Amino acid sequence: MLPKFSSRAFLAPMAGVSDPALRLQCKQMGAGLVVTEFTNIHSIIAKEKQFKENMQTIQEFIEFSEEERPLSVQLFGSDLTALEKAAKIVEPYFDIIDYNMGCPAPHVTKQMAGGALLQEVNLTQQIFQTLVNAVKKPVTLKIRSGVTDASKFLFREIAEIAEDEGIQMITFHPRTVSQGYSGHSDWSMIKELKEVSSIPIVGNGDIVTPEDAKIMIDETNCDYVMIGRGAMGNPFLFEQINDYLKTNSYKEYSFKDKLDSFFDYLHLSTKYKIKFANIKSQAMRFTKGMNGGSKMRLKITLSKDIIELEKIMNDAYLQS
Ligand SMILES: Cc1cc2nc3c(=O)[nH]c(=O)nc-3n(C[C@H](O)[C@H](O)[C@H](O)COP(=O)(O)O)c2cc1C
Repeated sequence: MLPKFSSRAFLAPMAGVSDPALRLQCKQMGAGLVVTEFTNIHSIIAKEKQFKENMQTIQEFIEFSEEERPLSVQLFGSDLTALEKAAKIVEPYFDIIDYNMGCPAPHVTKQMAGGALLQEVNLTQQIFQTLVNAVKKPVTLKIRSGVTDASKFLFREIAEIAEDEGIQMITFHPRTVSQGYSGHSDWSMIKELKEVSSIPIVGNGDIVTPEDAKIMIDETNCDYVMIGRGAMGNPFLFEQINDYLKTNSYKEYSFKDKLDSFFDYLHLSTKYKIKFANIKSQAMRFTKGMNGGSKMRLKITLSKDIIELEKIMNDAYLQS
């Protein structure tokens, strides 16, 4: 059974972005569910072996904190034996096992994983069966609509198979794989999927304001919404969406608040093995839209360590 979610707004899995520090911030600001960055099933198996030898667990590789719960781990990769093994390794630590069938990155689609799987009906069915049988925790799925414009309705069959095989929730980003992030996601497809599904549907794509979230819910009747890019450097969005859905109004946050929030992020990030390059990218996101932001971002790019980065952000704070 799915856990109970405290809010209808979820944080999307984002490689290099939804690290344990940002996830915790989003959770604290009211995200109903947070999902790890996608993780290769083969890496999980290799890392587990390595960590076991040192009496450690997979938590050293996929880092998280208890405060993030309910927490979903996202897997990718289509080798059935490895999938079963990886799912069993992560199961004890996470509340939901999510499967990625949306990633458009060529290094993923080339190994018959991510979005490329949408056109592999038989293999997809075996993947769902393998996962659902391997674990007792709920298995969920994240998909795009299709691979190319000519196959943009592949989601219909895949979603049906998923539901038949026991997948408990589907997150739907209605863009094709070849679209990447261009154009706009086609929310009418979310409405269509919701109408035919008896499991919860999470609508995803292009929500950047609380108003967008409400429009998606009203237009598509989706059960939950998932936010990716709109939450980058902006964990406040979850509180704003929750308030807006309840009261039709929400609190605005200033750039100073955003910088404060970055310092929180920085503080949290030191507890985890987050790459400095990723921390710098997060710093840039927290300065989005800020006065003098582009100059600051140039300085951030050139910073060599946390101390330098903190100084740049401190100066910005004093000037704002
Ligand atoms: C930098 C970045 C990394 C992403 N990584 C993942 C990932 O690991 N797994 C996944 O399912 N989707 C990933 N996505 C896709 C998002 O989860 C989401 O489906 C997409 O960005 C659309 O939502 P949005 O318009 O709210 O950003 C990523 C997106 C971005 C921008």
